[in-house]
Amino acid sequence: MFIHELLLRVVVLGTIVLGAYHIHMAEADDSITKPGCRSTCGNLSIPYPFRSSDSESHCGIGHSSLRVDCDDSDNHPTPYMEKRGSGLEILNISLEDHEMRIAMWIGRDCYSSTGYVANLSNFPTLTLAKFPISKTKNKFIAVGCDTYATFKDREGNFAFGCMSICNDISEVTDGSCSGIGCCETSIPRNSFDYNISIDSYRNHTEVLDFNLCSYAFVAENGFYNFSSDDLSGLELEKAPLVLDWAVGDTNCEVAKSSANYMCTENTHCTDAENGVGYKCTCLEGFHGNPYLTNGCQDIDECADPNKNQCNGDCYNFDGSYNCSCPKGYHGDGRKGGQGCTANANPSHLVQILAGAGAGTIVLLFSAGFLYLGIKNRKLIRLKEQYFKQNGGLLLQQQLHERDRTTNATKIFKAEELEKATNNYDESRIVGRGGYGTVYKGLLPNNTVVAIKKSKLVDKTQIEQFINEVIVLSQINHRNVVKLLGCCLETEVPLLVYEFVNNGTLFDHIHNCIKSSKMPWDTRLRIASDIASVLSYLHSAASIPIIHRDVKSTNILLDNNYIAKVSDFGASRLVPLDQTQLSTLVQGTLGYLDPEYLQTNQLTEKSDVYSFGVVLVELITGKKALSFDRPEKERGLAMHFLLSSKNNQLFQIVDRVIADEGNKEQVREVANVAKRCLRLKGEERPTMKEVAIELEGLKANSNHPWMSTVNLNGEEVIHLLGGTTDLAGYMDTADTMNTGPSDSMKNHVMPPVNSGR
Ligand SMILES: *[C@@H]1O[C@H](CO)[C@@H](O)[C@H](O)[C@H]1NC(C)=O
Ligand SMILES: *[C@@H]1O[C@H](CO)[C@@H](O)[C@H](O)[C@H]1NC(C)=O
Ligand SMILES: *[C@@H]1O[C@H](CO)[C@@H](O)[C@H](O)[C@H]1NC(C)=O
Ligand SMILES: *[C@@H]1O[C@H](CO)[C@@H](O)[C@H](O)[C@H]1NC(C)=O
Ligand SMILES: *[C@@H]1O[C@H](CO)[C@@H](O)[C@H](O)[C@H]1NC(C)=O
Ligand SMILES: *[C@@H]1O[C@H](CO)[C@@H](O)[C@H](O)[C@H]1NC(C)=O
Ligand SMILES: *[C@@H]1O[C@H](CO)[C@@H](O)[C@H](O)[C@H]1NC(C)=O
Repeated sequence: MFIHELLLRVVVLGTIVLGAYHIHMAEADDSITKPGCRSTCGNLSIPYPFRSSDSESHCGIGHSSLRVDCDDSDNHPTPYMEKRGSGLEILNISLEDHEMRIAMWIGRDCYSSTGYVANLSNFPTLTLAKFPISKTKNKFIAVGCDTYATFKDREGNFAFGCMSICNDISEVTDGSCSGIGCCETSIPRNSFDYNISIDSYRNHTEVLDFNLCSYAFVAENGFYNFSSDDLSGLELEKAPLVLDWAVGDTNCEVAKSSANYMCTENTHCTDAENGVGYKCTCLEGFHGNPYLTNGCQDIDECADPNKNQCNGDCYNFDGSYNCSCPKGYHGDGRKGGQGCTANANPSHLVQILAGAGAGTIVLLFSAGFLYLGIKNRKLIRLKEQYFKQNGGLLLQQQLHERDRTTNATKIFKAEELEKATNNYDESRIVGRGGYGTVYKGLLPNNTVVAIKKSKLVDKTQIEQFINEVIVLSQINHRNVVKLLGCCLETEVPLLVYEFVNNGTLFDHIHNCIKSSKMPWDTRLRIASDIASVLSYLHSAASIPIIHRDVKSTNILLDNNYIAKVSDFGASRLVPLDQTQLSTLVQGTLGYLDPEYLQTNQLTEKSDVYSFGVVLVELITGKKALSFDRPEKERGLAMHFLLSSKNNQLFQIVDRVIADEGNKEQVREVANVAKRCLRLKGEERPTMKEVAIELEGLKANSNHPWMSTVNLNGEEVIHLLGGTTDLAGYMDTADTMNTGPSDSMKNHVMPPVNSGR
């Protein structure tokens, strides 16, 4: 009953959100052409400097390759490149990527028992005037079992190709284009034309029973998926092919000093890397058509909760936006009341719960467990009921199961925890976060624990707790804060963790006294530990888990500087048949994967990016986000990438480690970080690769005791059980940051570390 109603609401809400998004997109597309110029042909939009050949010449620029000939003669207007006689149908034109898709013929070479069949065969040629075939986005592909196919340039200056031979259909594998039944190869730079030729070695005589024709074509990556059925006849006539386009015939530097330089205000210029000319793009924070006067318009990040990371008020201005600080930070006095500058700690500043959309979170869980939170009293009541009726029971069941196998998780009684925390005494608070408060507790058997309690006033956060239980109950790893149990009797669930007594990694990096006690090999070991635990979460855990909020404040250290990852409140379990999830963007500014921010597609590579930032923090001792740095360098990732690009890596390396004579290792780790911070998720290494690399580097240090850290993330019995004297190690300055908390998401606590 409830599930039904809740589901309905989710669907309705989702529709509203999507609807709004579409309206927004439509507005953004408004002025892609000059006034009065034709902007579409069928489904194709024609952005300036392209123009439709039936509109006036001022609608575009001179070059004929930028002309679109629209054949309106029937109900399906069809756009062609230059002239319809070229036969090159345009599928779409992208301003952002400077790409253009056209449909190209597929070549074929056919045989029958009587030999070559000329009237079925076809060898396409292509000649382009100005725009080259994209080197990175296309492949030359051949299909057949007695086949060799070549791509020749028309002048006969070069040729390349591939061959595929197979004697039996059982040898070929669907989906794999690796030389048996299908082969592929990449396209070189500056290819403006081709003749495709296809030939056979034995006129298909050996394979006539299953393969009459060979095929060859150039196609966009990902378009063609080989199937053995295609050997008996490929249905496709044409395939999309990506061209790179650019304007002008000089590079940016020359173009900038000429009268007809085409990039307008708020743009930047890049040289074409394939073909000639240059490309204009809107600066970050702007969108629109970079070739039109006033084309690049400021993006109002504040209008779209997915585009800003403000918890409080959001101020939009040209090119960016800023957030006002949460209450309690003004007059902090550290940087003269200059807004957020005072809070040099990034995580105080922002934590994205994606503003208005924050209400909807759906949790899927093995048994089909669905949970929803909306900032709505009625629903909160519903939700509580739901939790008690279903969630609580399911959790209990889950924990029981775990109990049987690991004998670790316990269900605590409410009184037990009350007693342990001296009735939740203020003095026991060790951290306060967006999702709740963390208390230090002492159990009757003298175990020191951390107890996390949801804010009573903010009941919508309950699902974060449940999420955390579900996630943590899947994990047993020495580098993950151990969940000891929970309490389901109270209105809000309480989670009980092992107490990690040495503060957060953030604290140790950015407090100068503590950072001086963290030499390079300790940092390297911490990095390696975190990498191996993330690798474990991504691949070795029973259900892959994306942490989603990897940052130095969520990594706790114990007395031996063993790192423990905490705060799984935002994590997601990834069903095995999915590699990415579409979610509300959530994370922490400074650590947030820019690709995820843009696409809302959550993959494990987002954790890789955040880990890269932590790695840079360890190397540089600088904060992930700092308003003390010039605007371009506020984000540490960018600051680091720019510095290392300009060979200034060692100018930003933490002095503590710079003097240690580990230059080579530091450089290697910096290289790993660089790869983790690549803009495109798919170009980043996996956590496993990172873990292996860091492990290798660590092994090169000459400290034998380090080798005890496990690489594969295999499950390890926890080391720190039932200690009695942990309190003795407590440094009072640490207490605010201790415990498995999102303590840095805190909005009411004063900063505890003295910074640099
Ligand atoms: C335009 O797109 C729609 C939906 O994708 C498709 O059905 C239609 O055939 C397309 N029209 C043309 C002219 O390509
Ligand atoms: C361009 O066309 C391809 C294939 O028809 C389609 O997958 C892609 O989404 C289109 N891109 C844009 C920006 O319209
Ligand atoms: C190809 O030519 C053969 C005769 O040479 C004829 O039988 C066959 O119908 C033709 N096929 C097509 C598709 O024109
Ligand atoms: C490519 O094809 C064109 C037209 O069919 C022809 O004129 C040219 O000679 C061919 N080039 C090569 C290298 O085969
Ligand atoms: C390609 O085809 C194979 C087998 O039909 C399928 O398993 C695979 O998912 C397909 N891949 C893509 C990218 O469509
Ligand atoms: C293939 O067929 C051609 C004529 O169509 C013939 O000249 C050639 O010898 C044949 N090759 C083989 C290996 O059978
Ligand atoms: C944020 O923007 C407002 C309005 O432009 C400005 O008054 C304030 O100083 C800005 N704060 C920061 C930290 O840039």
